[in-house]
Amino acid sequence: MKVLFIGDIVGSIGREAVEKYLPRLKKKYEPDVVIANGENAAAGRGITQKIYQQLLQMGIDVITMGNHTWDNKEIFEFIDEAQYLIRPANFSKEAPGKGVVQISKNGHILTVINLHGRVFLPPHEDPFRMADELVEEARKISPLVFVDFHGEATSEKIAFGWHLDGRVSAVVGTHTHVQTADARIFPGGTAYITDVGMTGPYDEILGMKKESVIYKFQTNMPSRFEVPKSGRDVFSGFFVDIDNETGKATFCERIYINDDYPFQG
Ligand SMILES: [Fe+2]
Repeated sequence: MKVLFIGDIVGSIGREAVEKYLPRLKKKYEPDVVIANGENAAAGRGITQKIYQQLLQMGIDVITMGNHTWDNKEIFEFIDEAQYLIRPANFSKEAPGKGVVQISKNGHILTVINLHGRVFLPPHEDPFRMADELVEEARKISPLVFVDFHGEATSEKIAFGWHLDGRVSAVVGTHTHVQTADARIFPGGTAYITDVGMTGPYDEILGMKKESVIYKFQTNMPSRFEVPKSGRDVFSGFFVDIDNETGKATFCERIYINDDYPFQG
């Protein structure tokens, strides 16, 4: 099974970048399943039902979330019905929605799991222990398991990747919006990248207008971060090919497209 993962989609520029590049990437990689992190899809903060549906229509099969899951309150109205929208599984037991989803494509079942790191982020349930339980359950159904680990610290993400090596097909890090150059397959067969990076505004700071971010660093005063509506884009992704029998990754590659690194067909 071939899986294409799209890094954190930020605002309208990010959504337009998906519309522009996904058809070309589908031609190039022929993915069976497309997953995207959509926690910044609605103007940088959360997701709306309309955007969730737009992303599905663009050809994305599963949307994952992160620390911005609840930023757009509309999500409380539709998350329980949104079959292919998952939020971190280690959120409180009181949280609506779910953290795991199975998707069936071409006769094979892929489990997608979303988990949240705890370093420099709110103290959610232990993602390592929760992953042990969720992966064990998933592997009873199919060895094809894909994990989006939404975390800030590279150390925690790398530790998490190694923790699951040999038990899942892929672990991708999300959240920092800066792609790392360490895409690889661990010895046990788990494809890994510390952070897939962002799909959104290219000439700003992590997708937010740079002036307000620089102002905050200079003055330490409150500053309203906004996502621009126009400007150049960047598309960040990760591709993995998985052996259907063993669930082990056989090939992986990071995808990074912008004016400095144009799309290679
Ligand atoms: Fe995030």
